[in-house]
Amino acid sequence: MTEDFPIRVEQRGSVSVWTIDREARRNALSRAALLALGSLAREAATNGSIRAIVITGAGHKAFCAGADLKERLAMSEDEVRTQLDLYRSELGAVDRSPKPVIAAINGHALGGGFELALCCDLRIAAVHAELALPETSLGIIPAAGGTQRLPRIVGPARAKEMILLGRRLTADEAVSWGLVNRVVGPDQNVVDAAVEWLAPIAAGAPLAQAAALEAVDRALDTTLDVGLELEKVSYEKALVSEDRREGLLAFAEKRKAIFRGK
Ligand code: COA
Repeated sequence: MTEDFPIRVEQRGSVSVWTIDREARRNALSRAALLALGSLAREAATNGSIRAIVITGAGHKAFCAGADLKERLAMSEDEVRTQLDLYRSELGAVDRSPKPVIAAINGHALGGGFELALCCDLRIAAVHAELALPETSLGIIPAAGGTQRLPRIVGPARAKEMILLGRRLTADEAVSWGLVNRVVGPDQNVVDAAVEWLAPIAAGAPLAQAAALEAVDRALDTTLDVGLELEKVSYEKALVSEDRREGLLAFAEKRKAIFRGK
């Protein structure tokens, strides 16, 4: 971990844990942090030893406080435009990951930090975590996908409540909104809980998981008829896999399947 690559990477079994390691700036997303996240996501896509990814922040105060506002202060308008493109490409790589990505929200998830969590497939949060999009109070709008990904998850009315009113959600409220899947109490570490929770993914069939992720991700962008066609295309990827055969054999032989991702 350096300021040029401010993400700590740790392999726990088949789960890769990425920790944004900028606690002194509440894990705010510098240009280097964005580039590091994108490059890790691209590398993980083809790394056979990674079955799932957990993203978290250092310490217990913040998951990520969003854009690095100190870095932003020194940027020209054109540099900010370039930075927005970077959010799109690098967080896009996280969003498009064929491996399941879980946000382990260990504290404040604000602005771009919340938008990073929205790029993940699942979200688990410490009970003290707080989620918000404060951009309009800073004279800007959420532009790391927040205006697009949030309404797809919670609907337009709730998205507008967060974006226009600056509504801050507790972890429990985020669960009731369908934004966070699980809350972890103060007696458990949220990253440990995430890794434990992911056990079925580590034991499951990777090609089927990737195909399922792809099919679900496409669902919100299209009509039902087109979506059902795309579901067929995703199913085909699992259909021709050795793992599908292994799943059937293991069932017949009353044993646990051993999936090889082939
Ligand atoms: N960018 C750069 N630095 C940040 C930052 C950000 N987004 N968020 C916090 N920091 C820095 C603070 O400036 C402070 O630095 P300093 O010690 O040099 O003064 C340090 O992190 C600690 O911040 P502090 O506010 O004292 O910590 P806290 O734990 O009490 O509160 C937050 C944490 C995240 C709630 C609070 O810092 C905050 O609201 N940050 C702004 C978040 C925001 O508006 N993000 C949206 C960007 S669009």
